[in-house]
Amino acid sequence: MTDSNYKLFESLKHSSQIFQNEEVFEPSFIPECLLHRETELKTLVQHFKPIINRKPTALGTHVIIQGSVGLGKTTIVKQFGSTLEQYCREKQGEDIAQILFFYLNCRRQRSWSILFTTILRQLVPAFPVRGFSAAELLTYMCSIMKERNQKLLLCLDEIDYLVSKAQGQDILYALIRNNEGYLHENNSPLSLILITRSRQLYTYLDSALYSSLSKRMIIFHPYNATQLYDILLARAKNGLNLSTYSNEILKEIAIIAHTSGDARYALELLWRAAKVADSEHSKEILFEHVRKAQVSSFPIKQSLITDLPLHQKIVLFSITSILKRQNDTMYAFTGDVKRKYEKTCQNTGVSPRKQTQFWVYLQELHKIGLIKLEVINRHKKGKSLGRTGKVSISDLPVNELVEYLQKIIPEL
Ligand SMILES: Nc1ncnc2c1ncn2[C@@H]1O[C@H](COP(=O)(O)OP(=O)(O)OP(=O)(O)O)[C@@H](O)[C@H]1O
Ligand SMILES: [Mg+2]
Repeated sequence: MTDSNYKLFESLKHSSQIFQNEEVFEPSFIPECLLHRETELKTLVQHFKPIINRKPTALGTHVIIQGSVGLGKTTIVKQFGSTLEQYCREKQGEDIAQILFFYLNCRRQRSWSILFTTILRQLVPAFPVRGFSAAELLTYMCSIMKERNQKLLLCLDEIDYLVSKAQGQDILYALIRNNEGYLHENNSPLSLILITRSRQLYTYLDSALYSSLSKRMIIFHPYNATQLYDILLARAKNGLNLSTYSNEILKEIAIIAHTSGDARYALELLWRAAKVADSEHSKEILFEHVRKAQVSSFPIKQSLITDLPLHQKIVLFSITSILKRQNDTMYAFTGDVKRKYEKTCQNTGVSPRKQTQFWVYLQELHKIGLIKLEVINRHKKGKSLGRTGKVSISDLPVNELVEYLQKIIPEL
């Protein structure tokens, strides 16, 4: 066995310094509590209160949850459903409805018939796999629930997948309108939670139906940076060893992710950064690890860099060398970048450009998305003292960038 192969096997012995419990970063992990979603949870409980309390007027309740990617829609409904079932079990004998909660993701269901059969086979294990239409299965499902004096709360996640298929809308109609068959007895066995990312659900429904449904629509808004920070901190406490992460690192990840407000992306970035730190046998997660983690999701913009004019390449090289040196901060001040630029020009026999042109280079690099530039105009007693700024590179790995720039700038 060669030395490098042997080392590969040796590395198996290495136990993680960073992770305490990596499972909390897996997609199937359900956190004990969902931060900053208290209002949404309360609203959900309120909507189903009449059903749970067997109010005589209670028809089935249908709720729509709408919001973009990674906002906690699925997690909140799963938590709600399992707590609800537990609550109903514990209150058995009191005047509380017996509710069965079913969660199904429509992306994984090829048709309504398969979806209903899945549910029916859990209710009646010997139920035949084939032979009935979706409408028949729905009727049968409701009659079983009526017979057993139970209620069914069906959560259909990513509902658009089934509704956009042929026949999909008819069955959705039947599901929603199912209540009407029970109007005379005020006792519908079926309630729905429909989860959708898009605002297009109404295009599949007629306006009267949609407007009645939209009264029970809960909209999930993107998380802001402070909320994402709280979510990251709670997960870090759960999954990472203490002192392997700093508040600054978590804040930086929260800031990177806040443009989409997506908690999944923020958590994935933290996990990736932790993995990079671990693979480098680092004792803690550094900004460089966050940058590398970002690159593993976004390919390096090499061609963009290769095509830059020489001076912009040198400016970029100056920024990256400063950031590489200072592993503990995310920014370089433009004054330092200017000095490094001038020094690099001198060392390589290139004549440096003046201040105004230097700022044009910075702005151009910012415009094409290679750097982030925050400009601060300084004043003293109403007099302008010129501008300064902070430069950062958040989505590219600095060490690799420096090496790459050294390779493609022959003058260096
Ligand atoms: N408020 C929160 N507190 C803790 N973790 C959260 C919170 N919101 C979301 N998450 C986490 O973010 C990830 C994504 O959440 P979830 O799957 O519920 O999002 P979603 O809105 O259903 O997204 P999609 O539309 O892509 O299905 C999960 O790992 C979840 O644990
Ligand atoms: Mg989801």
